[in-house]
Amino acid sequence: MPQGAYLANAGGCEDCHTDREHGGRPYAGGRALATPFGTFYSPNITPDPETGIGRWTDEQFLRALRDGVRPDGANYFPVFPYPSFTKITDADARAIKAYLFSLPAARQANRAHDVSFPFSWRFLQYGWKLLFFTPGPFRPAPEHSEAHNRGAYLVTALAHCGECHTPRNWFGATEPNRFLAGNPDGPDGKSVPNITPDRQTGIGSWSEEDITTLLKTGQTPEFDFVGGAMGEVVRNTSRLDELDARAGAPMISGRARSGSCGQSSGVN
Ligand code: HEC
Ligand code: HEC
Repeated sequence: MPQGAYLANAGGCEDCHTDREHGGRPYAGGRALATPFGTFYSPNITPDPETGIGRWTDEQFLRALRDGVRPDGANYFPVFPYPSFTKITDADARAIKAYLFSLPAARQANRAHDVSFPFSWRFLQYGWKLLFFTPGPFRPAPEHSEAHNRGAYLVTALAHCGECHTPRNWFGATEPNRFLAGNPDGPDGKSVPNITPDRQTGIGSWSEEDITTLLKTGQTPEFDFVGGAMGEVVRNTSRLDELDARAGAPMISGRARSGSCGQSSGVN
């Protein structure tokens, strides 16, 4: 798999940007994303110059992921997980764009979001960002191993685990000090489990091997298979290479979360 394809897979870009339920073309958008604020429709991110992002420069693409800002200066809604993607490195973002631009263009106009007032007001996102958004790429912690940093990068940035597993406040922002603590109001109104190392409410009894097995196969230690939104995630994580599939586990299982580490890499 070329690097850009590998990274786009880890980031789940195709899942949200493809209307699979209605046989939509890859990355042509139109997938409905139900949130407590209404239904958003993902845009076309194929290289079609009229209806996709074919005219975008690398800088515009980077700015969308890093700052959540559209080429015309308007702000994105955080249903696009830019609060996690802001941590993607420039090199990775460029590789993802190159990959997207290597795919067939699909001509398909974007569908307007179906979100009620006042959440539909894009300019209110300025205030939201001031309150809840910290831009900037992931910085590896020098006191940790390369593998640990890779895991933290995958979990917090590219694979954006916290976007579903972290509870959100009234404004739809993830609560930084409850990272991965579960979200009763996850995608499509479904509840998303706590995956912190808490033994009662989280997955503290899981070994690192259990977590890696789940990411590779979707199977839990109770021999169930995860479904729904996590089923889609597993389709992507099952394609990670061995090192990456193992890298996230120590961070999730808490063995690498002591001290400053959970703070520096776990927020968002
Ligand atoms: C959870 C669903 C979700 C995932 C995952 C996701 N996106 Fe998106 N993306 C969206 C939504 C929804 C929007 C539109 C937001 C808005 O209108 O404010 C969007 C907007 C965009 C835009 C701006 C397009 C435009 O026309 O302005 C780009 C570029 C983009 N996404 C790229 C990506 C890439 C690259 C990935 C993978 C690394 C990705 N997205 C993963 C939901 C998602
Ligand atoms: C799009 C939303 C979404 C994303 C992103 C996501 N998850 Fe999940 N996850 C879920 C849902 C929903 C479930 C419950 C699935 C089920 O019960 O069938 C789940 C279940 C799990 C479980 C099983 C927990 C248990 O108690 O059975 C683990 C472990 C897990 N996810 C880890 C991760 C990791 C690691 C990542 C990032 C690589 C991640 N998830 C990203 C939605 C998501």
